[in-house]
Amino acid sequence: MLSKTIRYYNKRSLSVDVSAYTRVLEGFRACVGNTPLIRLPTLSKETGCNILVKAEYLNPGGSIKDRAALFLIQDALDKNLIKNGATIVEGTAGNTGIGLAHLCNALGFKCEKIDILRVLGAQVTTVPVVPFTDPNNYNHHARRYAEKHENSLWTNQFDNQANRNGHYLMTGPEIWTQTNGKVNAVVMSTGTGGTLAGISMYLKEKNNKIRTVLADPPGSVLYNYIKSGKLERTDGSSITEGIGQGRITDNLKDAPIDESLFIKDQDTVNMVFKLLCEEGFFVGASSGLNVAAAVELSKSMPKGSTIVTCLCDNGQFGMPKVNKIKSQLHAARACRESNIKVSSSSDSSNDEYTMDIDDNEFNFNEKLLLTDIRKVKNMLAY
Ligand SMILES: Cc1ncc(COP(=O)(O)O)c(C=O)c1O
Repeated sequence: MLSKTIRYYNKRSLSVDVSAYTRVLEGFRACVGNTPLIRLPTLSKETGCNILVKAEYLNPGGSIKDRAALFLIQDALDKNLIKNGATIVEGTAGNTGIGLAHLCNALGFKCEKIDILRVLGAQVTTVPVVPFTDPNNYNHHARRYAEKHENSLWTNQFDNQANRNGHYLMTGPEIWTQTNGKVNAVVMSTGTGGTLAGISMYLKEKNNKIRTVLADPPGSVLYNYIKSGKLERTDGSSITEGIGQGRITDNLKDAPIDESLFIKDQDTVNMVFKLLCEEGFFVGASSGLNVAAAVELSKSMPKGSTIVTCLCDNGQFGMPKVNKIKSQLHAARACRESNIKVSSSSDSSNDEYTMDIDDNEFNFNEKLLLTDIRKVKNMLAY
């Protein structure tokens, strides 16, 4: 009976490889990291390079930041900076707070971040967005809060190098092992810089020829800093949350990063939809940015090269702006299907729409989406 079932599914290319799940993991903390490395077939075919993505949204708290959270807490434990019942304080745009809140629950600490954080038992204080140089910047709030409260620790994700050490010890070796050392470039957007710095430090030690590339959105200084050493912001602002920077964090300091790429928000958003409709992944804006950068990088790599990046988090949380764009896009399509006129940047025959969203103009190729959704259906109909 069993072998008949296996033969049935094998014939339909639906066999399941269970070799990766060979042991029982001990609790939340043991599930952080060791994420699958996935080849994106459509983009790999289009670019002539292997575009590989680490599925970081599969971490137990839902994002790449579980890794930083684990190492920030583990480092504090190793240095005896916290004892049972301590309160962990962090200034965060979201994902680090979620990772910390999960770990605090699992390890018996308390944690201070909005909706999902409160569900996880964290206490959240929201503060206005101001630059790091302003004493009211969220990082300084977090530091002061921890200083004022007994048995509290500010994990300081931006400047605590335990963050990048975690990626040096874990994410870098995972990429090296999963590719059998056959990796030619790694490209990543940065917030704290911990991910790219740690991975680059490890991979460069293994093979100095691996290209390490920082992908930067509008409004950040890092693109220019890596190109020319000048801390000059690029124009505009970005819909990506927690990505881009106005300074060089300690996690980014002296990291072996070779070059930088500037990625427009429109390319980021288009890639979020392409990943959804052509590759089947619903991921957040920073993942769109990362893969758009991998595609851009492939233009200057020999054919057959392997480029690694990350799908940092799931599209279902942390990206209200992209979700808003997506719902407007669906609304536009529904209107068109019902023959209701929507504002169009060009004649209706080429299906190009321009929508005004949060003062930014995004162009979407509706035809691409419709065609690709059909393609996905075909893919599933074996
Ligand atoms: C979804 C997401 N992707 C990427 C990053 C950047 O990672 P890192 O802080 O290691 O540079 C962040 C940082 O907050 C993030 O939330």
